[in-house]
Amino acid sequence: MTMRIAVLSGDGIGREIMPQAIGVLREVETIFGHHFELLEGLVGGAAIDAVEEPLPKDTLDLAKQSDAVLLGAVGGPKWENLPYHQRPERALLGLREHLGLFANLRPARMYSALVDASTLKPEVVDGIDILVVRELTGGIYFGKPKGIEPTPTGQRGFNTEVYTTEEIVRIAEVAFEAARKRRRLVTSVDKANVLESSELWRRVVTEVHERYPDVELRHMYVDNCAMQLVRNPKQFDVIVTTNMFGDILSDEAAMLTGSIGMLPSASLGSSVGMYEPIHGSAPDIAGQNIANPVGMIASVAMMLTYSFDLRKEADAIEQAIERTLTRGYRTQDIAGPGTRVVGTREMGEAICRELRADA
Ligand code: IPM
Ligand code: MG
Repeated sequence: MTMRIAVLSGDGIGREIMPQAIGVLREVETIFGHHFELLEGLVGGAAIDAVEEPLPKDTLDLAKQSDAVLLGAVGGPKWENLPYHQRPERALLGLREHLGLFANLRPARMYSALVDASTLKPEVVDGIDILVVRELTGGIYFGKPKGIEPTPTGQRGFNTEVYTTEEIVRIAEVAFEAARKRRRLVTSVDKANVLESSELWRRVVTEVHERYPDVELRHMYVDNCAMQLVRNPKQFDVIVTTNMFGDILSDEAAMLTGSIGMLPSASLGSSVGMYEPIHGSAPDIAGQNIANPVGMIASVAMMLTYSFDLRKEADAIEQAIERTLTRGYRTQDIAGPGTRVVGTREMGEAICRELRADA
C-alpha cells in the first residue's frame, strides 16, 4: 500500500519542525516496511512570496489528491499588513473548509517526565489526559454576514456566530464516539446563558447523547471551563465545543502539559485528514534551531492512527517521544533543572534513535 502525503511546511518554525517529522516517518518506513510518498506544496507566507496567494490551486489540488496532509505552521510579521483575505492564515481556513475538516481533535496529555515543566503545580497536572474536540468549519470563523462597512461616524466590523442542527450533531457524534474509547465522559462547552447559537448547541448535544447512554454528558459555560481547566483539569476527559471556544481552550489545555510546542492535532471529516501541531509559526524563535518538534512529530503519530490505521507504528512514535523525554532530552521551552537542552534537530534525531532502538 502506497500512502500519499501532502507535506506543507509553511512558515517560520514550520520549516524546521517538518524535516524532523519527515525523519521520523522515514524511520517508520524502514522499521515497518511501508512506503510513504511525500509530495511537497507551498502554503501560507511561503506561497504568497512565490505565487502571491496563500493557498494556490496547485496546493489545494495536491491536498485533495493525497491520503493525508501534514502541515507545519503559517504566518509571520512579513505578511501581517496584507488585506485579510490574502493573509497566510487564510490558507489554513481554506484547507479546513475545502477538505471538509469539521472535527479537530487536540489531545492534551501530560508526559510524566514533564510534570515539572508545567507552570501549574505537579499534583494539579500530573496524569491529565484531555481530548479537545473542536468544531472546525463553522461558527464565527465562517458565519455570514461578516465584514467591515462604513457608518455615518466611522465603520462597523461584524461576524456571525451560527450553528445548524446538522453541524452540531456530527461534531457531537465525534465527541461521544471518542469518549467511548476513553473514560466515557463528555463535557460540552458553550455560552448558553447568553447566546442563542449556544442554546441550540446545548439542546442538540443533549439529544445526540440519548444515543450514547453509556457515556456521561456534562454541560459547562465557557468562562467556567477556562477556570476549571486551571483549577482542576483532571475532571475532564473529552471536551466538545465550538470553533472559537475550542481555539481558545485548546491553547489553555496545551499549556497545562508544559508547552504549547508539545500538542499535535488531527482535523477530520472527509477522506483526507490533516495533521498539524496546534502552535503557530513562532517567528520570534524561527531559524534558530530551538523550536520544539514534538507537537509536529506527535502529529505524524495521529496521522498514522487516523488516516492509515497504523496503530502499532503510531504507538512506537509516541513511546519514542516518551522515552526521549525520560532520558532528559528537552528543547528550551520545556527545559528544567538537570535536563539536557538540545536543539530542534537534535530532539528529532534523539526520537529517531529511540525508535530504532525499540525496533
Ligand atoms: C489554530 C490557530 C488558527 C485558528 C489560526 C492560525 C487561523 O490558532 O489552529 O488554533 O484560529 O484556528
Ligand atoms: Mg489557535
